[in-house]
Amino acid sequence: MSDSEPRESDAAAATPFELVVLMGLPAAGKSTFYAQRLAATHAHVSMDALPRHADKRRRQHALVDAALAARRSVAVDNVNPTHAERAELIGAARAAGARVVGYWLDAPPRACLGRNAGRSGKARVPPVAIFTFAKRFEPPEMSEGFAELWRVRATGTAEAPSFELQTIDT
Ligand SMILES: Nc1ncnc2c1ncn2[C@@H]1O[C@H](COP(=O)(O)OP(=O)(O)OP(=O)(O)O)[C@@H](O)[C@H]1O
Ligand SMILES: [Mg+2]
Repeated sequence: MSDSEPRESDAAAATPFELVVLMGLPAAGKSTFYAQRLAATHAHVSMDALPRHADKRRRQHALVDAALAARRSVAVDNVNPTHAERAELIGAARAAGARVVGYWLDAPPRACLGRNAGRSGKARVPPVAIFTFAKRFEPPEMSEGFAELWRVRATGTAEAPSFELQTIDT
């Protein structure tokens, strides 16, 4: 191979990849946003999808680390309520050389209660979970290490969901 020919490893190293951190109360619309905007490009990691008795946090980190090691973009779809929980994800992404993008599905508890009531079966969470997370939720800030941070408002209907995005620059 001549020196001027690009090597496969250089091409892989140059391909941008990112970690998306979804944030928001239960029923805020995170998974719907993922399906609409990210499913085609990002692997999906969610503690909701892991077996009930697993050490979910450890399993989640293993899945995130595997995606990052493969330089594959990945979205973490949990409430992700605190700076500390997000810091673990952001630290792993930065160590792997991934950009970090945050989407905060910002909805008041009463809106989430209404959307939750419209769900059925296992998707419906106990309403108290919405209030418990609302108390613990720490709004995300750029200083946590995001390259981009967006506030997302769910608009539209359950049948035709749409989303409005606004940058957060503080
Ligand atoms: N943009 C939207 N407009 C109206 N309804 C929406 C919108 N996005 C999602 N919904 C509805 O709100 C409910 C909750 O959405 P979704 O399951 O995406 O929330 P979630 O944040 O992933 O919740 P959880 O944390 O419990 O997984 C669903 O019934 C969905 O159809
Ligand atoms: Mg969800």
